[in-house]
Amino acid sequence: MQRLQIEPRTNLKGTIRVPGDKSISHRAVMFGAIAEGTTRVEGFLPGADCLSTIDCFRKMGVPITRKSDTSLVIEGGGWDGLQEPTEFLDVGNSGTTIRLMLGILAGRSFYSAIAGDASIARRPMDRVIQPLRRMGAKVEGRSGGSFTPLGVRGGGLHGIEHQSPVASAQVKSCLLLAGLQAKGITQVKEPSLSRDHTERMLRAFGVEVDSFAGGVSVRGGQTLTGGEVKVPGDISSAAFPMAAALIVPGSRITIRDVGLNPTRTGIIDAFQAMGGQVEVTETGEWCGEPVGDLTVHASSLHGVEIGGELIPRLIDEIPILAVAATQAQGRTVIRDAAELKVKETNRIAVTAAELTKLGAHVEETPDGLIIEGPVSLTGSLCDSHGDHRIGMAAAVAGLIAKGGTTVENASAIDVSFPGFAETMGRL
Ligand code: S3P
Repeated sequence: MQRLQIEPRTNLKGTIRVPGDKSISHRAVMFGAIAEGTTRVEGFLPGADCLSTIDCFRKMGVPITRKSDTSLVIEGGGWDGLQEPTEFLDVGNSGTTIRLMLGILAGRSFYSAIAGDASIARRPMDRVIQPLRRMGAKVEGRSGGSFTPLGVRGGGLHGIEHQSPVASAQVKSCLLLAGLQAKGITQVKEPSLSRDHTERMLRAFGVEVDSFAGGVSVRGGQTLTGGEVKVPGDISSAAFPMAAALIVPGSRITIRDVGLNPTRTGIIDAFQAMGGQVEVTETGEWCGEPVGDLTVHASSLHGVEIGGELIPRLIDEIPILAVAATQAQGRTVIRDAAELKVKETNRIAVTAAELTKLGAHVEETPDGLIIEGPVSLTGSLCDSHGDHRIGMAAAVAGLIAKGGTTVENASAIDVSFPGFAETMGRL
């Protein structure tokens, strides 16, 4: 699917599910691989990123069987079950795979080489490499170890206290995974709370994790015990049909079984603050993760100012939030989001560029975006730039644009939302 063709629509109606949560799917594979015993995963996201994670662990000798697209069985052999890989580990487009995996590799007393695609080669790795070196890991890479390809010779770690300058679940999770293999305590502090799926799933696998205001710590020498993981729908994927229902006139949709972890629900708070009618019904808890249904009605939106602690809770949703903001009355200001520059693409620049092609009034700032609305969009030729979330944001904008919109390089969408066009088409 290289090109996605979008025609304007009205009255999106119906009930859908979105694919499994990407962050939780990665962790299910990784933790299952380093755990002792069998782990069964249901609701796994069969997107390209999570498939890269499976591939990396298979290269370290972990038996992983796909019973269906969304169900896996992992036969973990504990930390020592991982074998020195004979090939380099290829993470594809996945920042979560490489950063979390580095925490695992840092504690293994073997050599591994790890790299990914052109986007991964541009993304900063020093945020994890520097603290891992302080723990005693030997890591080499391009530009002094800041960029891939990287070589790791692990083992002999000791715990550290690390103050991360950015609220990053990838940094926090990497260091907790290294910390579990280190002597003593490893503590990670962050400026505001990033997603806490690692903490929740480690506890479900029998690990003691101490969360406190401003940080988290683990004691080294703990083992994980395999179990059952049921993965909820990804709220970051649900954000696209949610935004579509808010801005396409006459819409009313329900999305079932969406993960509602409070470190991820910032997009619901932001849409509601804009006047969006989003009803949330919590239905249960799956492996320590709250889950529920979302019902979204077409709404007249108004601009908002977004920044501070809300940003890590909706960091991946900012491109689609910007699309909704083009239809909101007044000015929307997004600040404190400089991290967007080091995602799969520079999402500040690319969101502004794609929405501008469609006729939106968007201004780039050093740490965010300013969007003036409402503006009637005009169909255009857009590009995902190889970034799944940019491709989907452009496609949703196309639903309210005059005339047809084409999204080029649309196959990138499969990274997090395989079946996106079909799911949207069902509405
Ligand atoms: C993720 C953490 C976030 C997020 C990414 C997935 C994770 O990145 O943007 O899509 O699964 O831990 P950072 O931790 O770098 O902010």
